[in-house]
Amino acid sequence: MRDYFEKLRRAGQVREISREVSGRHELAAVTQASQRESEAPLLFHKVAGSRFPVMTNVFGSRARLMDMIGATGGSFCRRWTEVMGKVAPTPLVTAAPSDLEQIRLTELPQITYFERDGGPYLTAGVFLARDPDSGVPNLSFHRSQIISDSELRVRLGRSHHLTQYQAKAESRGEALEAAILLGPPVSLVLAAAAPLAYHENEMEVAGKIAGGPLALRRCRTVDLEVPVETEIVIEGRILPDLRRPEGPFGEFMGYYVPVGDNHVFEVSAVTARPGALFHALTCGSPEDLRLLEVSVATRTFQALLAANLEGIIDVACVPFAMSTVVKIEQRYEGHARQVLLTAIGANHDWNKTVVVVDDDVDINDFDDVWWAYLTRGRADTRAMVMPDVPGFYRDPQRDYWGRLGIDATAPFGRRQDFVRKRIPGADAVDLRRYLAR
Ligand SMILES: Cc1cc2nc3c(=O)[nH]c(=O)nc-3n(C[C@H](O)[C@H](O)[C@H](O)COP(=O)(O)O)c2cc1C
Repeated sequence: MRDYFEKLRRAGQVREISREVSGRHELAAVTQASQRESEAPLLFHKVAGSRFPVMTNVFGSRARLMDMIGATGGSFCRRWTEVMGKVAPTPLVTAAPSDLEQIRLTELPQITYFERDGGPYLTAGVFLARDPDSGVPNLSFHRSQIISDSELRVRLGRSHHLTQYQAKAESRGEALEAAILLGPPVSLVLAAAAPLAYHENEMEVAGKIAGGPLALRRCRTVDLEVPVETEIVIEGRILPDLRRPEGPFGEFMGYYVPVGDNHVFEVSAVTARPGALFHALTCGSPEDLRLLEVSVATRTFQALLAANLEGIIDVACVPFAMSTVVKIEQRYEGHARQVLLTAIGANHDWNKTVVVVDDDVDINDFDDVWWAYLTRGRADTRAMVMPDVPGFYRDPQRDYWGRLGIDATAPFGRRQDFVRKRIPGADAVDLRRYLAR
């Protein structure tokens, strides 16, 4: 991640904050103010009480996510599918660099993001753990509340693989070893965000995205290998048969998750590379949502291909991760409705609404998507309501259930009646040539 961040910095794309900021709300406030007007990544040189500079909003741009997997100008979903078809390069395991520094957890920037948060949190930590039976490694994000140098409280979502690993270890009365990676290579972040099949080796997936072997080193206190190029590694164990209060926490859906009894992570070592940068991520900000979007969209795209549906061009999740938009080239009467059904069934947690549009609609612009719905046919017969279908696993009660599918395509065979008007040359105008004095 450092290499990628430095590349952006050299290109003048990083906003740098040299005055000292407080980790309690101020850093998050400045980040949010910047994100409201720009996609630029930020570098905070000085956070009170810590010597580690903070990078944030590294992933808060669709264009950057596309760039990270080599999909520039194309489709993230399509490129991801190509990359996954490659053979994973074998990682190189090397000795741990001698200049790794052992530090205390509370030397890291202590960042409290939202007003009612229960305290400082690690929000960008990628958990690496191995299935207790097969040894297959898994990568996933899990927010962690910092309690002390030796204790984190961790949120493990019900459906996640780490949760299943932990349950297996717990059923044997064992702790689950894990390493939390802060600032790993960007390929690992993308692999961690992706909801892949249980048996899939996510370190291999990261290798495919990186397009070359990952250099790994052994951890000091747990039986795991982590990428050498990780800024900070927190080693430890998720303890069995123990839950302690975690929260409240301002989460990606825009609300606070109340205090709940969650898992306890016992810290056994923290190491930092020389000159380490700390990665902070504001939950629910563009940095969080862009990562969620591409992972949900890719999963839906792959389900549509697996169902042998023709004419699937791309999938996006705008304006929010629970709203899926599918772009198709219509091939037959009723095509869009078959796509709708499959897309809704592709993901029981996320796809609360699905809209299918024609190939001339910008699926990353919900204004354009809604315009297509309103101008290409009837509002009543093209919306399908599915009552009483459970939604995201944390939707607390039936009050939040139900699915909505919208066919926003033009009637089949009548595209010539829906040619979009355009002004020749408008896309190529260089306004500076007209506005300059
Ligand atoms: C930035 C980010 C933060 C996340 N935070 C959490 C979290 O705190 N708890 C959680 O259970 N899932 C969280 N998730 C979701 C999972 O990490 C993610 O769905 C992951 O793909 C699950 O991996 P798995 O399919 O291997 O279980 C987060 C995802 C992202 C992209």
